[in-house]
Amino acid sequence: MALLRQTTLILAVTFLLGAAAAVETELLRGFTATPSRSDSVFQPILRDPTGNFSMGFLRINGSGLALAVVHVASSEPLWSADLADPARLSDRTELSFNGSLVISDPSTGVLWSTRTDGDRVVLLNSSDLQMQKTDPPAVLWQSFHFPTNTIVQNQNFTSNMSLVSSNGLYTMSLGDNFIGLYANFERGKEQMYWKHGALEARATIVEGAGPIYAQVNSDGYLAMYQNSSTAVDIETFSSFQKAVDSFVLVRLEPDGNLKGYYWNGSEWVMDYRAISDFCELPSPCGSYGLCARDNDSCTCLDNHTEPHSGGCGYGSGDLCEARTYNVHFRVLRRSGVELPYKELMGYQTVSSLEQCESICESNCRCWGAVYNNASGSCYVLDYPVQTLMSVDDETKLGYFKVISETGHRGKGYRIGFGVGVSMWVMLGLVVVGAIFGFGYYRRWRRRRGVSAYLEEANKVSPGPYKDLGSASFRSIEMSSG
Ligand SMILES: *[C@@H]1O[C@H](CO)[C@@H](O)[C@H](O)[C@H]1NC(C)=O
Ligand SMILES: *[C@@H]1O[C@H](CO)[C@@H](O)[C@H](O)[C@H]1NC(C)=O
Ligand SMILES: *[C@@H]1O[C@H](CO)[C@@H](O)[C@H](O)[C@H]1NC(C)=O
Ligand SMILES: *[C@@H]1O[C@H](CO)[C@@H](O)[C@H](O)[C@H]1NC(C)=O
Ligand SMILES: *[C@@H]1O[C@H](CO)[C@@H](O)[C@H](O)[C@H]1NC(C)=O
Ligand SMILES: *[C@@H]1O[C@H](CO)[C@@H](O)[C@H](O)[C@H]1NC(C)=O
Ligand SMILES: *[C@@H]1O[C@H](CO)[C@@H](O)[C@H](O)[C@H]1NC(C)=O
Ligand SMILES: *[C@@H]1O[C@H](CO)[C@@H](O)[C@H](O)[C@H]1NC(C)=O
Ligand SMILES: *[C@@H]1O[C@H](CO)[C@@H](O)[C@H](O)[C@H]1NC(C)=O
Ligand SMILES: *[C@@H]1O[C@H](CO)[C@@H](O)[C@H](O)[C@H]1NC(C)=O
Ligand SMILES: *[C@@H]1O[C@H](CO)[C@@H](O)[C@H](O)[C@H]1NC(C)=O
Repeated sequence: MALLRQTTLILAVTFLLGAAAAVETELLRGFTATPSRSDSVFQPILRDPTGNFSMGFLRINGSGLALAVVHVASSEPLWSADLADPARLSDRTELSFNGSLVISDPSTGVLWSTRTDGDRVVLLNSSDLQMQKTDPPAVLWQSFHFPTNTIVQNQNFTSNMSLVSSNGLYTMSLGDNFIGLYANFERGKEQMYWKHGALEARATIVEGAGPIYAQVNSDGYLAMYQNSSTAVDIETFSSFQKAVDSFVLVRLEPDGNLKGYYWNGSEWVMDYRAISDFCELPSPCGSYGLCARDNDSCTCLDNHTEPHSGGCGYGSGDLCEARTYNVHFRVLRRSGVELPYKELMGYQTVSSLEQCESICESNCRCWGAVYNNASGSCYVLDYPVQTLMSVDDETKLGYFKVISETGHRGKGYRIGFGVGVSMWVMLGLVVVGAIFGFGYYRRWRRRRGVSAYLEEANKVSPGPYKDLGSASFRSIEMSSG
């Protein structure tokens, strides 16, 4: 018995050593790998010279699969391949290198490819995954040019890149002279909710002198540069100039905040938040929520509803298809409300509340309007209503459309029939109506993809990609208090 156990142990140790040895420091043409059936969350394939970083298969919440570069000590993903549809974990998913790094599946074909003609794949000690040509030496592709939701120290974030939060709702990108954070509450509409430009005191950004780029520095700051090595602006972290000599990163979180962290040797310590006030996040209480700044608590715009994880639970739909789909809305009014990032929204100056409301009422692309009775400003929301802030000022008035009924499948599709029409004709019309209706319904379903996603993203059991952020970064969120 004892001998058997010892043998098993030896076998296990041999296996583990074998597995460790299988982690390469470079991949050459002809390399292939498949996901193992083991229970481990991360299966390393390629490591950097220091062993701090590794590239391999990352299981997302047990079901999905990603190709990711992780920080080994914390298992935090720093980059992952942008698979439109994260591959299901299967024995048949294959990673190969034939000049391109390719993820493929026999049933669905190529899922992702670097589309290069390189000689080797290496992971640098900066966590940059590179596809290199050896003669003459050249870098054909690098993960630093395709960030996911994170940039690490010394990685250049340029104007042709963007960060996307793991739930797909928020993005970060650069403007001519600023860093912007945007919410995608409605497909094709990006609403900026945070903007950081250069401070007057620093070297100013010269128009036409070339694009800017941003970089996070291990001294604890996020810098913007233009054409020189002198930063045109720096946004400091709490560890700034405290000689915390450690690895730093900046990540766009699923709540839309941009956070900075450093690795203190045992955990990630949060030391920067772009938005420090909870109520100023893009949608802290979800749709139709109301955020109280005194105590950071959430209620609903409508006093009768209790907020839950997805917001205040009103229906969604497209107000512009009201006639076809029998979409009705009712109006919800509330005083003492303000938009969290109104300084980044456009407004019109009108002479009365009625005028402000009528601008919105007659426009099916408008979901609501907030009117300031003191200044006459009328802010129109061209995306589904998100969280508003409560203010102790009854002259700030909100008008919101709430979808009260959505018809599906040609409900409300009018089939005219008069006296004398035979039953057969009626039946024929019904069938034709149903076919058309279903076609419309499918198109409508496709169009409302983003709002459906929004609902999904707010639910407790999210899609696999979201989990990459929420589940794996729990340690960070916890350490940040
Ligand atoms: C990298 O490894 C060194 C030595 O093991 C360690 O001191 C350092 O904290 C590691 N860095 C990161 C970012 O994990
Ligand atoms: C995903 O992870 C969350 C939190 O760990 C868990 O509650 C949920 O059940 C998991 N979902 C699946 C499909 O495994
Ligand atoms: C590598 O494999 C992919 C997928 O099979 C293929 O599309 C591509 O042409 C191959 N590249 C080279 C250089 O052979
Ligand atoms: C990372 O690699 C660069 C050059 O390849 C080297 O100069 C640097 O010292 C290395 N850093 C660490 C922490 O190993
Ligand atoms: C970032 O950009 C600067 C200036 O163009 C360059 O010197 C540096 O090598 C770049 N860093 C990386 C990691 O590409
Ligand atoms: C972005 O632009 C830089 C040059 O400014 C280029 O080297 C890089 O390949 C571009 N990245 C992408 C993803 O197009
Ligand atoms: C950057 O460009 C501006 C405008 O062209 C120029 O005035 C400035 O001298 C440049 N700085 C450097 C370091 O090249
Ligand atoms: C890292 O931070 C945590 C929490 O802030 C602390 O408990 C731990 O001692 C720190 N580790 C080091 C090595 O400083
Ligand atoms: C938070 O403050 C608001 C008033 O600003 C109050 O109505 C609400 O009850 C408070 N909520 C909690 C949980 O204390
Ligand atoms: C909700 O309650 C507040 C005070 O508690 C009141 O001012 C407001 O009019 C109510 N709103 C609605 C829509 O009932
Ligand atoms: C709005 O302002 C007008 C005059 O400018 C005033 O008569 C009216 O009472 C105000 N309404 C509210 C709700 O404060």
